[in-house]
Amino acid sequence: MSKILVTGGAGFIGSNFVHYVLENTENTVTVLDSLTYAGNRASLEGLPADRFEFVKGDICDTALVEELFIRHDQVVHYAAESHNDNSLHDPRPFLDTNIIGTYTLLEAARRHDTRFHHISTDEVYGDLELDDPQRFTELTPYNPSSPYSSTKAGSDLLVRAWVRSFGVRATISNCSNNYGPYQHVEKFIPRQITNVLTGERPKLYGAGENVRDWIHANDHSSAVLAILDRGVVGETYLIGADGERNNVAVVELILSLLGQPADAYDHVVDRAGHDRRYAIDSSKLRRELGWLPAYSNFERGLASTIDWYRQNESWWRPQKAAAEARYKQQGQ
Ligand code: NAD
Ligand code: DAU
Repeated sequence: MSKILVTGGAGFIGSNFVHYVLENTENTVTVLDSLTYAGNRASLEGLPADRFEFVKGDICDTALVEELFIRHDQVVHYAAESHNDNSLHDPRPFLDTNIIGTYTLLEAARRHDTRFHHISTDEVYGDLELDDPQRFTELTPYNPSSPYSSTKAGSDLLVRAWVRSFGVRATISNCSNNYGPYQHVEKFIPRQITNVLTGERPKLYGAGENVRDWIHANDHSSAVLAILDRGVVGETYLIGADGERNNVAVVELILSLLGQPADAYDHVVDRAGHDRRYAIDSSKLRRELGWLPAYSNFERGLASTIDWYRQNESWWRPQKAAAEARYKQQGQ
């Protein structure tokens, strides 16, 4: 039994991980989250009080981080500024949280010899051509495109340096695009679902040919637990579930699952520097740690995600108008 500190546990993937750990293990969990616009305390409602604690605070707060590291065995670090579009308009918070925040945690892990798992993204590898037979592997050179992905790449490199120079017991995972419950309405899939539910048309950037490699958030959580349990310190593991689809296909599927005509969407201004395609080869994780995704059917996973947004309007409604107002300003 472990005491796990989860940074960013009120965000999308962090909150899914917290639910997953409390449902599938006997570990206890403390969430450290500053509740930015992307954090939502409601994502953590109903968790068992004897195994779960919530601490509101910033990962850059050295004194608070110190106090929390003293009483936890393992740290899983999800906290980040996570949205590419925001990073194009105001990069500074990405540097503060993703770089300085990660540095602050690494220094505490060094002082306390804490087992540390760093959550990262496939975007650190840049993008692939649409017709490239290659996928990303752990050996692909870093080549990030956006302020967001460059700060994630920087944070990965800090982790590697702290392992090599100071012997910090850390692992890194780079995962592809997640979908599932509790994802903020600014992100692609929830934005389009909640657009249809509120009578708006889905919005596709540019031609919509960009490809993302979709994985259910629960599969990301099971992979992270496998790495915490059996991963080798100093190693990087890519997490993906063979879920490549272009954005048009995803919008058409959402429209069809919601009973709308397949062409009832709009094309809007493209994202600056828009990465064309991400694709993950997760064979190292499968081979060395015996991990397998449970959600092999994207259409079924998407249908259950749509049901969740239908049934949890009170969770997403308060954020919707502000998110759409930001997009409108950007012509998106
Ligand atoms: P999110 O934006 O939904 O959640 C981020 C959480 O971090 C929020 O709860 C926010 O309040 C918190 N936070 C932000 N700054 C903080 C700070 N300074 N101190 C404490 N808490 C802070 O993000 P997400 O989509 O859940 O992503 C979580 C992690 O997973 C990120 O590190 C991201 O890079 C990585 N990731 C995301 C995806 C994806 O598809 N969303 C894929 C691969 C990796
Ligand atoms: O690959 C992992 C990454 O996936 C994570 O590191 C990021 O934190 C996460 O936000 C996600 O990044 P993307 O930029 O791929 O996700 P986003 O949901 O913003 O967009 C997915 C695709 O959909 C992308 O090609 C842009 C496009 N898009 C997005 C929005 C919001 C649209 O066409 N229309 C939209 O309205």
